[in-house]
Amino acid sequence: MKTRITILCENLVGKLIGSGEHGFSAFIETGQGNYLFDTGSGHSVVSNSLTLDKDLRTVRKIFLSHGHYDHTGGLPEVLKIKGKVEVHAHPHIFLDRLAILEEEGTEKRRFSGIPYKKRYLEFLGANFSFNTDFIEVERGVFLTGEVPRKTSFEKPDPRLKIETEGKVTQDILPDDQSLILDTEKGLVLIFGCAHSGMINIIQHVIAKTGKDKFYAIFGGTHLDFLTPEQLEESIKTLKTLEIEKINVSHCTGMKPAFRLHQEFGDRFSYGCVGSVEEV
Ligand SMILES: [Fe+2]
Ligand SMILES: [Fe+2]
Repeated sequence: MKTRITILCENLVGKLIGSGEHGFSAFIETGQGNYLFDTGSGHSVVSNSLTLDKDLRTVRKIFLSHGHYDHTGGLPEVLKIKGKVEVHAHPHIFLDRLAILEEEGTEKRRFSGIPYKKRYLEFLGANFSFNTDFIEVERGVFLTGEVPRKTSFEKPDPRLKIETEGKVTQDILPDDQSLILDTEKGLVLIFGCAHSGMINIIQHVIAKTGKDKFYAIFGGTHLDFLTPEQLEESIKTLKTLEIEKINVSHCTGMKPAFRLHQEFGDRFSYGCVGSVEEV
């Protein structure tokens, strides 16, 4: 069986079916079973799974890329359908996250962390398995663990904060991790929001797997929040890498997506709700 990646939750809807939301989730079908990477914010994961004919009861494992609500908020809805299931994540997903946003000329604090307690999710069936390092979770399926921040041009998003014992500090999202599928055509890499920096993540994957041929990259790249100079640096480095298909979503943003299309032509596609890629 071919590996098939379907975008379940995303900001945009590509077909005449499904709902968009601010969030990300991908349904992954492989010869050894199905997986769910992220769960969106909770508004569309179940309805889109039904519309797109992806049975959440068949999910063998769930992977959470990081603790933001738009990737973890759908977990209770999935658990209510699936019941007991292993959920892989970094232990820091439960930290209290904030986003400081400019809204109508004033600064607004928005809670942006996981909206549910661990014990509630466990009650619904989540069996958490935490990792901080690179691991092989199933044959040919890997999680990056924490990603070293090495490039000079990929900086933390200044709007993202963390609250510990009443103190608000910059959130560098150490819990950000991505999923890797080792396929015959090359590596498939799926980002949540790529808060560690898309290039940092790719370099970390090359270092850990010893492989540098990517069939495809998917998910949120957070390119929308880099300065134009930083974006150009990312694209310049991306061009030096062996990546056949660039299919990005979510926090990539429209302007960086247009830039990627301009640069990579037919190798680029936008991953809307309902987009399917077979490997
Ligand atoms: Fe996100
Ligand atoms: Fe995020």
